Amino acid sequence: MPAFDLSAFLDGHPVATFVIDTTHTITHWNKACEHLLGWSTAEMVGTQNHWQAFYPKQRALLADLIVSGVDPAASEYYREKHKRSALIPGAYEDEDFFPNIGASGHWLHFTAAPLRDAGGRVAGAIQTLRDVTERRVAENALRKAHDNLEHLVEKRTAQLAEANQRLEDDIRQRELADAELRRRNIELTALNEQLGMTQQQLLQSEKLASIGQLAAGVAHEINNPIGYIFSNFGTLQSYLGSLFDALQAYRDAEPHVADAAVAERLRAMREELDLDFLREDIPSLMNESKEGIVRVRHIVQDLKDFSRVDANQEWVWANLHQGIDSTLNIVSNEVKYKADVVKQYGDIPDIQCLPLQLNQVVMNLVVNAAHAIGAERGTITVRTGADDAGEQVWLEVRDTGGGIAPDNLSRIFDPFFTTKPIGKGTGLGLSMAYGIVRKHNGSITVHSTVGAGTTFRVLLPVRHEEAQPGPAPEQGPGPA
Ligand SMILES: Nc1ncnc2c1ncn2[C@@H]1O[C@H](COP(=O)(O)OP(=O)(O)OP(=O)(O)O)[C@@H](O)[C@H]1O
Ligand SMILES: [Mg+2]
Repeated sequence: MPAFDLSAFLDGHPVATFVIDTTHTITHWNKACEHLLGWSTAEMVGTQNHWQAFYPKQRALLADLIVSGVDPAASEYYREKHKRSALIPGAYEDEDFFPNIGASGHWLHFTAAPLRDAGGRVAGAIQTLRDVTERRVAENALRKAHDNLEHLVEKRTAQLAEANQRLEDDIRQRELADAELRRRNIELTALNEQLGMTQQQLLQSEKLASIGQLAAGVAHEINNPIGYIFSNFGTLQSYLGSLFDALQAYRDAEPHVADAAVAERLRAMREELDLDFLREDIPSLMNESKEGIVRVRHIVQDLKDFSRVDANQEWVWANLHQGIDSTLNIVSNEVKYKADVVKQYGDIPDIQCLPLQLNQVVMNLVVNAAHAIGAERGTITVRTGADDAGEQVWLEVRDTGGGIAPDNLSRIFDPFFTTKPIGKGTGLGLSMAYGIVRKHNGSITVHSTVGAGTTFRVLLPVRHEEAQPGPAPEQGPGPA
């Protein structure tokens, strides 16, 4: 036994403490224990009823397990609830709520440790209990507050996510509306452009139709007089030949004129008229005039082609490529010093056409292309192709020349519109080409970029159908 009274020591100790011996009999139950648990020392010491202070049914406490040498981990009451004490070897700790202690129950923290005798054998166990209700209540409140906060945060996060989703939906809808608006705008712009172009084409074809009427009238009026002037010219030339022969005969007879006065008059007259010069000059004047008349005849023919007055031509099935090749040969002198000609022929069917007239169209387009190319060597590309349905073929002449000023684009098909110097161009090439293409019920369009080049595109139906009586739909030329 210790030198001091353990009961007195424990009673003075502020921590609730009880001790049991190896028979689980309570040997000490201090004042603090009495106070905390409401069971008096007199009631408890000498009994094995310490469980009564805590539980409604008998069961082992930590101190009992230590005395019995049972590991709490193997006890059905403790298993995972207990902890090994970090300070005292062989001691255990445990914390639990006891609803029957006090008015509304208490949280108690237990520490139970073995008491050993001098030989180190377990002679009993001491168990202390600390009231940790306040701490646990505070902890609980804290946990609750924390849980509340977490719940609140979760709720707010969900609300935020929802608002975000709504915002995203809103943005998506706005983007859709925006895209739709932009699409509509593009459509409208394209429609507007098309409208402008159609209007321009309409104006252009109306203008060309009235010019065509005028040209047809002029061609008709000039054609007859030019016809007889041309044929009279042939006759006149042969008459002149005869006259010169007669004059020569008179001249040869001059030395044989007996009357000196007559002979002198003849000589003076010959000198005054400079008959020798006339003999040389008249044929050259005649030739020049004849060339002029031939040119006028050409112009009249071009005007007729433009106004489509000649209807008595043969429509035949022909291959466009043959015509293009032969035309390129004819104009090769005009082209070869200025540009390389690239041919890109597609697979096209024969078409029903007026081949010689189409050759003229090609010739005009190619010569114009060559003229448009400046000092630097360029390229003229001739392409052909057919539409998918096989009902139309197209022909393109593209050059790398100077291009056409936008102001001139609407005028290039007008008869006599030319930007070339006087004597270089009559301005009839494109108007004639337009007339010929129209006669084929086709269309001719132009696309040009100043400084980069020009492309003329001719679209022709494969089969020729005679125009129905009545107003045919006008397909004017125009910028493509
Ligand atoms: N490929 C082209 N590049 C640039 N301008 C062109 C081209 N084709 C035609 N033009 C312009 O169109 C005008 C009219 O052409 P068009 O063929 O009707 O007459 P022209 O070539 O001037 O004379 P003509 O063909 O009667 O000898 C030309 O003067 C030129 O200004
Ligand atoms: Mg021309």
